[in-house]
Amino acid sequence: MSEIYNLTLIIARRDSADDTPRYQTYEIQAGPIMRFVDLLRTINDEQDPTLTWNSSCEHGQCGTCSMKINARPMLACELLVENAIAMFGTSTFTLEPLEIAPVVRDLVIDSDAAYERVNSVKPYIIEPLPPGSEAEEHQINPDQLEYYVDATRCINCFCCSSACISSHRTFLGPNAMLATIVRVLDPREQEKEERYRKIYSDQGVYRCHTSKACSHVCPKEIDVARFIALAKKGFLPE
Ligand code: SF4
Ligand code: SF4
Ligand code: FES
Repeated sequence: MSEIYNLTLIIARRDSADDTPRYQTYEIQAGPIMRFVDLLRTINDEQDPTLTWNSSCEHGQCGTCSMKINARPMLACELLVENAIAMFGTSTFTLEPLEIAPVVRDLVIDSDAAYERVNSVKPYIIEPLPPGSEAEEHQINPDQLEYYVDATRCINCFCCSSACISSHRTFLGPNAMLATIVRVLDPREQEKEERYRKIYSDQGVYRCHTSKACSHVCPKEIDVARFIALAKKGFLPE
């Protein structure tokens, strides 16, 4: 029979964006492969239906369950109890919302506000190249493919932005930079100049301090800092 752990969850509670957080403690028993979203759901079912948090896919693909767990931005749907205990060396966990946007309630942040910075870089093809006359496809150089595949795995969970030491007021953030850098790499995108203007604007890559915190916390293991470093050096493999 698998081990049962006695966990203490200390959760930041707020009724609105203007509230000062109050930290509420929940004691809960859990098996080793329960995920943190399962713990929160169990609290809702058995102790406190008012505790508010967010999730959607619960499969590491949408980014809506991101939160700070013992100060580290993470996906609550991917973190197993046994892994959390091994990672932090404790069975006590403090759960807080990401600080990249106003809190709506408890662990839920205003995702529209968070997405404003990503949307500002136009995370889509601005001016698509027309289909070629001989082949209806655009091929990417194999040297660039590695970068392209890596960058397009981003799920906009904002864990990197939360961990970034550069000010959220002055820097668009690592995932917004990645969203526009990936379109520089995209052979279908013709509008590179507008992208370069964003990348090298006063809210762009030169705000980065090369701490690599973004790469360290990314749940998709994207080396975000590498993309930003390449852009800072003026080298993007177009
Ligand atoms: S780069 Fe990684 S941490 Fe940042 S938003 Fe994308 S998936 Fe999340
Ligand atoms: S490497 Fe740059 S973008 Fe990444 S966390 Fe550090 S300062 Fe932020
Ligand atoms: S709920 Fe979708 S990534 Fe966690």
